[in-house]
This record gives sequence, C-alpha cells and structure tokens, in this order.
Amino acid sequence: MKTNTKETVDGVKRVLEGKKVNLRVMEKDDVDFATECFNNLDFRGEYDPIPQQKSKSERLRDFDNPSSLIILCERGRFIVEKKDGTRIGFIAHYLVQPSRWMEIGYEIIPKERGKGYGTEAVQLMVDYLFLSKNIGRIQAITDTRNKASQRVLEKTGFSKEGTIRKSGYVKGAWSNAYLYSILREEWKKPKTLTKTALTKPTKRTLT
Ligand SMILES: CC(C)(COP(=O)(O)OP(=O)(O)OC[C@H]1O[C@@H](n2cnc3c(N)ncnc32)[C@H](O)[C@@H]1OP(=O)(O)O)[C@@H](O)C(=O)NCCC(=O)NCCS
Repeated sequence: MKTNTKETVDGVKRVLEGKKVNLRVMEKDDVDFATECFNNLDFRGEYDPIPQQKSKSERLRDFDNPSSLIILCERGRFIVEKKDGTRIGFIAHYLVQPSRWMEIGYEIIPKERGKGYGTEAVQLMVDYLFLSKNIGRIQAITDTRNKASQRVLEKTGFSKEGTIRKSGYVKGAWSNAYLYSILREEWKKPKTLTKTALTKPTKRTLT
C-alpha cells in the first residue's frame, strides 16, 4: 500500500539533498513559480518548441486533476532549489511505456545557468531513479545544437546513442535531436545520493 506523509512519498523523501542543490517534490504552492517560468519564452531555451501558455488558474486546475496521460506515464516533477531554498528550476521524469524506460527533462532559470546546478540536478535524479525504481535505463532527448544540455548528460555518464531526425518543429523549421541514455550497469553506484539519504531508515527497503 502507498503511504505518503509530509516528509515522504511511497517511503522516499520529498527532498533529495545534493551539495549545491536539492530536488524537492513539486507542491501546489510551486504553481506560481511554474506559471512564471513556463510563460517566459527564454526559460525553455532556444531549441525547445514554444510551450503552451497557461494562466495560473489553468495550472492549478491541472495540478489538482492531472491528465490520464500524466498518470499513465507516472510523471514526477521536482523543483530544483539552491541550498537556501531559492527555486531555480525543474526536473521531471516519466515512464516510456511499454518498455519501462524513464525519460528525464530539466530546466534551470537563465540567470542561474553555468554554475553547475543543472549537472547536479541530473545526477541526483539519476541516483534517485536507479535507487528507487525497477528500471534498467534512463534516457534524455536534446536538440543537436543544445551543447549545455549535452555536456550535462555527458558529465553524468550518459552516452549518445544516435540522431533523431526531424524530432521537432521549432520556430519555423525542423530540428534534429540526439538520444542519450545511461544503463543501470553503466551507472554502477550513486554519485550523490545513497539509499539511506533517500529513505527514512525505518521505512521499507527498496528493491
Ligand atoms: C541545459 C541546462 C539545464 C544546463 O543547466 P546549467 O545549470 O547551466 O548546467 P551546468 O552549469 O551544470 O553545466 C553546463 C555545462 O555546459 C557547458 N556549456 C554551456 N553552454 C555551452 C556551449 N554553448 N557550448 C559548449 N558547452 C557549453 C558549460 O561550460 C558546462 O560545462 P562544464 O562544467 O564542463 O564547463 C540549462 O542550460 C537550461 O535550462 N537550458 C534551457 C532548457 C534546456 O535546454 N533543457 C534541456 C532540454 S533537453
């Protein structure tokens, strides 16, 4: 049975602690931050399609009533916070069915880029997913021109698998993307999190 408390979701802590950043499960109070970020065209960077513009009330409604697609792909969204609690971005994971692969997506607000926060957020997410989920592979898709994102993935141990041609239609032209992945056997061990840091010691043992 799933047990959620103020501090845990399914026995896993709501706040995953790194050295420079923490990942915290997104809560309803973060919808204002999400609205501000996702309605800012610079936030998603130069290479992503323009995201759907939504008001805060629409986002609140979506938060309370997630779509069946979001439920089906078991999406989890975390806030990236600096150690003083300042919110600086998002990182999400979702299941690619039916193969049970996880895919991740992430954004750091423009003024906080280039300080190592994105890399640590991705490392924390990879540790969290391999420690807590029964998956063998995590993947990420990034525009071929997105050097910062590729660097983040490579520093985390992802390998480039190939090019997805015409992967998106961005600002009036077709774009290509690279598919990156990391397998459980390549991850070997956590870079930042440990099993004990992930769970409360008295909670269930993860498989
Ligand atoms: C991708 C993103 C999350 C990276 O976050 P970040 O906090 O800036 O990442 P970091 O500071 O940890 O690392 C960035 C790395 O990219 C490198 N980099 C940045 N721009 C670069 C460029 N144009 N060419 C080559 N390398 C570049 C940095 O030098 C750094 O590598 P280093 O540590 O070896 O010097 C951030 O740029 C972002 O939010 N972009 C918009 C959204 C996005 O593209 N998300 C990813 C979608 S797949």
